[in-house]
Order: sequence, then structure tokens, then C-alpha cells
Amino acid sequence: MTPETASTITPAKVAAPVVQIDKLWSIFHTTGREAVIHQDLDLTISQGEMMSIVGGSGSGKTVLLRQMLGLETPARGQVTVLGEPASQLGREGAASRVGMLFQHGALFSAFTVLENIGFPLRELGTLPRDLIHDVAMVKLQMVGLDPSQAHKMPSDLSGGMVKRVALARALVMDPPLLLLDEPTAGLDPDSADEFCRLLRSLHQELGLTVVMVTHDLDTLFELSTRIAVVAEKKVIVSGTAREVMAYPHPFIRDFFLGERGQRATALLSETTPKV
Ligand SMILES: Nc1ncnc2c1ncn2[C@@H]1O[C@H](COP(=O)(O)OP(=O)(O)O)[C@@H](O)[C@H]1O
Ligand SMILES: [Mg+2]
Repeated sequence: MTPETASTITPAKVAAPVVQIDKLWSIFHTTGREAVIHQDLDLTISQGEMMSIVGGSGSGKTVLLRQMLGLETPARGQVTVLGEPASQLGREGAASRVGMLFQHGALFSAFTVLENIGFPLRELGTLPRDLIHDVAMVKLQMVGLDPSQAHKMPSDLSGGMVKRVALARALVMDPPLLLLDEPTAGLDPDSADEFCRLLRSLHQELGLTVVMVTHDLDTLFELSTRIAVVAEKKVIVSGTAREVMAYPHPFIRDFFLGERGQRATALLSETTPKV
């Protein structure tokens, strides 16, 4: 198990960090009250990882993703993405470097599937329409949709298809880093499984670094190369599923070993080497 602050990994042996968060403080002021969401939070995510972030509701997981996207500026500390402060990614720059699948990231209801996917390219204002069309078509098929879906309206799509289109839009500028906020929330179990398989194959084929927030244990175990647990305003532990589950903390006990613990325990015994 690796508490982030006590990590002693030799730099030469690991890939360059894609995301590096140092001593992050996030503070919100609402109706005269100050709420400290993150306090001295550290997290490092290396190239090629599929890092999952888990934590209680309101623990600041979404805020953390928004920090990585440069949509929120830290009150204190540093959020460095691909070697630059996240706040300097810039609006267009952000889409080419970081793709984000928002939890409630609805598609534009008045645009077709293809127009939704091509939207970030259209926003640039510099590319010819034909090229945008062709790129969007490639991305449509990359997420497993048939070209015949291109001219459908979002209201005609299933939940799983909406997620696929939103994913194609997040990846339209080929960003090396993909952020996913509860990617399987609201999907039925079969659609969630399918979406997991798609995420896993894109992660491998495109060599993406992925940071995912999820509270779904199936998604978590299926996809994560590492898990970071946010509690008490910081990352209390990060490591493999087994390492994290062995860390003594009430949130971890409830999350992994509560009513859903059967599955977690089964996974542990399946992966425990026989002596
Ligand atoms: N822009 C904002 N202004 C004020 N409070 C915010 C803002 N964004 C998030 N918060 C608060 O920060 C806390 C963490 O939010 P969030 O990251 O959405 O939690 P979660 O871990 O469930 O994703 C919540 O209490 C939320 O109300
Ligand atoms: Mg959230």
C-alpha cells in the first residue's frame, strides 16, 4: 500500500507523471461560509494508468477532475497536467490534451450524433467542414457505433449510446488523458459491462491515461490499474485493489466490505496466489 505522501518510487523506473497534484487545497465560499474540500491532497498518475478515484459523496471527487481539466483553480497547491499547470491548458488546448466525460454530460439535444461529436473541432473555427465530418465519423466507429447512427438525434438514443457519443466527443481531438466521472452510473448492468469493455479496449489501443471516478465495484475491479481513496480531505491511500482494501479505515471497510463485500472478497480469494 502506498500512502501518496510517503511514496518512495524511484523516478527512473516509472513513466513520467501525466497528472501531478501537490499539496492541493480546494476551498469554496457559499453564503458566507467557508468549506474546505481538499487539504494538502497529493496524487500522482503515471502514463498509461487507469486510475480510479473513490470516496464518499461530497468528498470532492468531481472537483478533483475539474481541477485536472483546469475548470477550477486550486486555493493552494499545484495541479500539473502533462507538465503544465492545469489552469493554463486553455479552452481549446484542454480538448486536445484532456478529454472529459462528465457525469451529467448531456449531449446537445438540438444537434445530431455527428454534430455532437464534431463540436469541439467546430469550436476551433479553423477546420474545413468535410474534415470535421470525416474525423467525427471515425470517432463514431471507434466507440462501436454504426455509421447509420450518425444523423440520429440524442433523444432517439439509448443510455449506453449517449455515453458512447459523449465519449467520442471527449476523444475527438485525440487527447492523451481521459477523465471519466461515474461513467457507468445510470446504465443497466449489460450496458455498463459493454461500456466497461469499450473503455478497456480504448485504454489499451490508444495508450490513454485514464482517471475515473466511480462507486461501482464491478467497474472499479474490471478497469483499474490503481485505486486512490479520498477521505478526510486527502488521498489516504492508493494502490492495487488488494492493497487499498487492506488499509484500515472506516470508509474503506464500508465501501468494499459492506453489503457489497461478498464480491470484493471473492475477487481477493480468486487473485490470491496459492502457496
Ligand atoms: N462551485 C462550487 N461552489 C461551492 N461548492 C462547491 C462547488 N463545487 C463543489 N462544491 C462542493 O464541494 C463538495 C464536493 O463536491 P463534489 O466534488 O461534487 O463531490 P463528489 O465527491 O460527490 O463528486 C460538495 O460539498 C459540493 O457542494
Ligand atoms: Mg461527483
